Amino acid sequence: MDKHLTVVAVDGPAGSGKSSVSREVAVALGLKYIDSGAIYRAITWFLIRRHGAITKGQDFSGDLNGVVITQEFNNDGSCNTFVDNTDVSVDIRTETIAKNIGKVSDDPGVREFVNGLLREWARNSSIIMDGRDIGTVVFPDADLKVYLDASVDVRAERRYNEYRESGKNVDLNSIKNQIIQRDVEDTSRPFGALKTAEDAVVIDTSSMSKEDVIQALINLIAPV
Ligand code: DC
Repeated sequence: MDKHLTVVAVDGPAGSGKSSVSREVAVALGLKYIDSGAIYRAITWFLIRRHGAITKGQDFSGDLNGVVITQEFNNDGSCNTFVDNTDVSVDIRTETIAKNIGKVSDDPGVREFVNGLLREWARNSSIIMDGRDIGTVVFPDADLKVYLDASVDVRAERRYNEYRESGKNVDLNSIKNQIIQRDVEDTSRPFGALKTAEDAVVIDTSSMSKEDVIQALINLIAPV
């Protein structure tokens, strides 16, 4: 990696605020934001369309040959993800995708495919990337690693509000159960499990405003 390019890795569990915070930090500092979770979501979307339904342990090898996944980060902080030129940014934020994603992100072949894409996209610009294993697996040499955390209740409420804001009618309790389930999946997968990198700065955002978290990251990145 070119040394003059900066890599900021932001990991943490579902609903910890990684994505919204990273986008705004990217806009403020002129970094490119890369949403690694959206890639796993896009692949889940693609596989469900291809197979109708997917099962745990299903062999996806071969399914991704020739599939072109791209992502665009825009000046307003929005980020669009495409599968073979189809914009799937809205369709990947559904409960169906959330329920099925563990079957896809557990697959070591899928993870290798995604990691290759992420490293390639980071080659030409300074980036801030969020995910589960960015500081541990994808960029173990990142210039700065941040681990954002928050209590299950706070994270469930944040996800609930996101769904509501996008016009979806969802149940808070079911969102909370999904978050708990995703935590189990994310922390126990054999490859790319969610864990705190030894050299990560850990921030518990449970009682912080989004603006406070953004400022904390900007302060951390400044000396990098
Ligand atoms: O950040 P998100 O909620 O959009 O991520 C969706 C899922 O993708 C998450 O449950 C686990 C998976 N994921 C992963 O395994 N590794 C990453 N680097 C990012 C996401």
